Amino acid sequence: MTIARPDYLEEFLVSLIREFKGFYAPNSEWVKSTVDYYEEDLRRYLGTYFPRSLLETYDIASELFGKVFGSQIATDGELRILDVGCGMGGGTIGLLFVVLEKFRVEKVILRGFDANDESLRFFREILNSGAWNKAREALRKLEAPGADADMAVGLRKVSVSQRIFDVLQDNSEYDVVLTSKMLNELNVEKKYRRFLETYLPHLSEHGICFVIDVNDKRDCLHISQHLSNESLEFLQSHDEFECLLPPGCRICAEGDRRCEGFLQIMCRDTNFDRLNPDAERGVSKVCCRVFCREPLYRYLKPQLMRFDFLASEAGENHVYCPRLHS
Ligand SMILES: C[S@@+](CC[C@H](N)C(=O)[O-])C[C@H]1O[C@@H](n2cnc3c(N)ncnc32)[C@H](O)[C@@H]1O
Repeated sequence: MTIARPDYLEEFLVSLIREFKGFYAPNSEWVKSTVDYYEEDLRRYLGTYFPRSLLETYDIASELFGKVFGSQIATDGELRILDVGCGMGGGTIGLLFVVLEKFRVEKVILRGFDANDESLRFFREILNSGAWNKAREALRKLEAPGADADMAVGLRKVSVSQRIFDVLQDNSEYDVVLTSKMLNELNVEKKYRRFLETYLPHLSEHGICFVIDVNDKRDCLHISQHLSNESLEFLQSHDEFECLLPPGCRICAEGDRRCEGFLQIMCRDTNFDRLNPDAERGVSKVCCRVFCREPLYRYLKPQLMRFDFLASEAGENHVYCPRLHS
């Protein structure tokens, strides 16, 4: 069964693109480095790549929270989210929508970091836009448990580098840590491992961390393979954390890794010109791993082993964990 996304998501994207004069002009080379984008670039990104990030993160989080955690998740009222490389908030807003749909939450505390000041300005404006307010209203009509949640947002300019990888420099804790499509842009050695070493200790007891990235080839391997290799290196020396999705990587790593570390999720109806009514709807591909502390992994393991991540749409381009489907 395919998950149908609620209508308000597309309505939000179309209104937002209109409100901010976004436009569709895909170019896979142009989008490889986004850190110096200025206004015109950001409007192009908004009309072209922002919707993909939003819907990909939405699909991943919605599958995970819906199938593994169950619906209407209880919280202590507050939920703390950290997004490293949040940009204009494509991934963050996809995640936020899932949180408001599924979590009985009164307050969301969001901290976002990015090296591009102009992107952060757009993000702030998006959270004050008519499109955003309409989406919040739609969530209320759907009686989403978090629809009325207050939002406390702190966005800060920081550049992640080999020398300064930890943008937090404190002991703060988060219920959800996200990074979406930023790590591939960094010129930092073993960046996936460093991300896990730096940010997983900031997870709260029941916190989870989404590492999402594009999946093209870099240095002879697909990005998902770099992510897998560095995740397994990390897990081998950190028993206190586990890979929640796909589960069982530690076990596979000791034997025959049938996936060769290649993980790719195909998201449908993400990639098209939303201002052209005749546009053909295309798919987009990302890689993703989700991490948590070991006790939460142990608790969720039975559900995880039955988890069929978007498996209904599995085509030859859709490769999640072969072990899950056998
Ligand atoms: C492709 S965009 C993704 C934005 C957002 N996370 C999303 O999913 O839509 C990559 C983001 O990473 C940011 N970025 C690139 N290099 C960075 C660095 N060294 N430190 C902090 N942010 C960086 C860019 O400014 C940009 O906003």
